[in-house]
Amino acid sequence: MAVFRNHFLPVCVLILSLSTLLTSTVSTSSTQKPSRATTVTVSDFGARGDGKTDDTQAFVNAWKKACSTSGAVLLVPKGKTYLLKAIRFQGPCKSPLTIQIFGALEASENRSDYKDKRHWLTFDAVNNLSVDGGTTGNIDGNGKIWWQNSCKINPSKPCTKAPTALTFYNSKNVKVTNLRVRNAQQIQVSFEKCANVIASNVAVTAPEDSPNTDGIHITNTQNIQVINSIIGTGDDCISIESGSQNVQIKDITCGPGHGISIGSLGDDNTRAYVSGVTVDGAKLSGTDNGVRIKTYQGGSGTASNIKFQNIQMNNVKNPIIIDQNYCDKSKPCKKQKSAVQVRNVVYRNIKGTSASGMAIKFDCSKSYPCKGIVLQNVNLQGGKATCSNAQVMGQGSVSPHCTNT
Ligand SMILES: *[C@@H]1O[C@H](CO)[C@@H](O)[C@H](O)[C@H]1NC(C)=O
Ligand SMILES: *[C@@H]1O[C@H](CO)[C@@H](O)[C@H](O)[C@H]1NC(C)=O
Repeated sequence: MAVFRNHFLPVCVLILSLSTLLTSTVSTSSTQKPSRATTVTVSDFGARGDGKTDDTQAFVNAWKKACSTSGAVLLVPKGKTYLLKAIRFQGPCKSPLTIQIFGALEASENRSDYKDKRHWLTFDAVNNLSVDGGTTGNIDGNGKIWWQNSCKINPSKPCTKAPTALTFYNSKNVKVTNLRVRNAQQIQVSFEKCANVIASNVAVTAPEDSPNTDGIHITNTQNIQVINSIIGTGDDCISIESGSQNVQIKDITCGPGHGISIGSLGDDNTRAYVSGVTVDGAKLSGTDNGVRIKTYQGGSGTASNIKFQNIQMNNVKNPIIIDQNYCDKSKPCKKQKSAVQVRNVVYRNIKGTSASGMAIKFDCSKSYPCKGIVLQNVNLQGGKATCSNAQVMGQGSVSPHCTNT
């Protein structure tokens, strides 16, 4: 893990100093070299912010200006609500860019306003991007219309995709801070194919019964920190999928929802790789799972070097779970030998209560048993432990104990 830290630290310093630089240039005089930050305000491009007028084109035009201006700050003023259709904020931009979302963004309820049905607001190929919600910024996906039409809510409807509220795609050096996101159409915030990301002080909310509204979704992303954030939603609090490496989750509060998940991995016989995930400092309350690794039968690849530590569970149905027979399909998944190999997973200082009679469940693949599972100072009350096809080592005090390792 020493290598991990040494590798990550310069990235953080880089991003932090980048944002400091941007903030300081905003307030300094025009005599300061090399260039003064130019504030580009969406209202200068015709955005009304009355919550009724479609402000999409004004945002697109303001983005074009900010993205092509050196050292720009794109400002969404506070105290107003901007109604928006799907927008792709396309990079690359001329220089590092800050976007201050101090007002409220609200998604159009007309499903025809989402061409690909997969995205609402997307930042694509924008390197050195800082998104700051200040004390007032709010992003509302207005997802009710999508939830009602989900096959998970209404089985007579076909299973279709719904948009992710906020996507960062193919972007390096991204900082997201002080942002409130709610009621996404489907996934709330997604980092896909990104590198060097810090997300801090993010608050995500949606009703417990909103379908597939993962709080923060991380896929194909390297060197990402999610810190100091509060997530209550209808699906995973944080989900970490294939291609993700060096993921640090720190000081997170989850609930309601499905807990912190690695996976699902190996769906449709795919090859998956996830490594170097640390969850350090988390409080989960009333969630379906606490810390979970979920893989489909028939997949391949590995999920390795994972650490869950300093975690409080309150009334969690499955506080610690590895599920290698995961299946979230309309039809039952068929039995298959191949599996994503789960290796080197440490659970340390995990305390609290189970809401279901199950505290620890390792349901691993018979042909690819879980290897190097360490339980250290684990005390979960109100539940038993069942461990199938898992090499489990206990250290310090561990309760409950596996009945069948
Ligand atoms: C982003 O930052 C990197 C590292 O400082 C730099 O090489 C690159 O040119 C920057 N790109 C933009 C668009 O600011
Ligand atoms: C939704 O958008 C489509 C396409 O822009 C339009 O034809 C339709 O009238 C809109 N529906 C509502 C209810 O506004």
